[in-house]
Amino acid sequence: MKHLITTADFSNEEILKLFDDAKMFLDLKSNNLLQGKIIVTLFFENSTRTRSSFEIAAKRLGAEVVNLEVQTSSTKKGETVEDTIANLDAMKPDAIIIRHSDCGLPASLVKFIKCPILNAGDGRNAHPTQALLDLYTIMDHYNYDVDGKNVAIVGDIVNSRVASSNLELLPRFGINPILVSPKIFNVVSEYKSVKNIKKVIDDIDIILSLRVQHERHNFSRTQEELEKSTKKYAKKYCITKDIIQNRDLIVLHPGPVNRNIDISDEVLLDSRSKVLEQVTNGVAIRMACLKKLILNQ
Ligand code: NCD
Repeated sequence: MKHLITTADFSNEEILKLFDDAKMFLDLKSNNLLQGKIIVTLFFENSTRTRSSFEIAAKRLGAEVVNLEVQTSSTKKGETVEDTIANLDAMKPDAIIIRHSDCGLPASLVKFIKCPILNAGDGRNAHPTQALLDLYTIMDHYNYDVDGKNVAIVGDIVNSRVASSNLELLPRFGINPILVSPKIFNVVSEYKSVKNIKKVIDDIDIILSLRVQHERHNFSRTQEELEKSTKKYAKKYCITKDIIQNRDLIVLHPGPVNRNIDISDEVLLDSRSKVLEQVTNGVAIRMACLKKLILNQ
């Protein structure tokens, strides 16, 4: 039984095959590949894109989706997540998609269930389908000629599961990460790291901008302090026209974008912004992941 807990679960060869399928699904037309299958989604953390993207992907493949409303489920009555999952698994679904704030939770659930489990984000640990759709968007733009390209990963890197999954995945395809963040958001890694994007901008082919993950910060601040630090942060890390000018590069963001803090309005409207294309690609990538894990092909 194969699961998708981190990007390391799929080999490069499997990923290229997955991308072939995603390309086929990109018109987002409905088919009946997963007709008669039932997919359960369990989102213990907020989600707009990932949850609807998985749901649309499943429905486009003809599967039925059961969304467990976590707020009204038995975890609120003291049941452990492990027991909730084991009970759901006993109803014999064909796949379970889970998002949870605990790092490592999806991996620890594997031993309780008999169907594929897809990690839709676990704390700051991993968000494999997001990194796969990011890589697909980059590959598609550069016609698969990505070896030696440089990606600037900008923002709250230490708290971002999108950053950590991309840091695992992109270098496997020859894409070099350059980390751009203030010291408090940086991680210790083998990659080049700078505080100011202007220092490296001439070498950059891809900018991956990230949202500041306030929900994962454990320092308390007044509203006034927060506004002040956000303003200071945006001044240096917001991706603006002044930073990208007319350079030949693309701008990605997993969403939700905090406008004029992560990326300026102007850059979001620029044809180099891939933000909405990522969302479309995300459905196709998730269709390919569901097909792979449920049909084992
Ligand atoms: C991200 C997430 O939830 O990790 N969003 C997403 O899934 N598209 C990034 C974020 O919340 O900043």
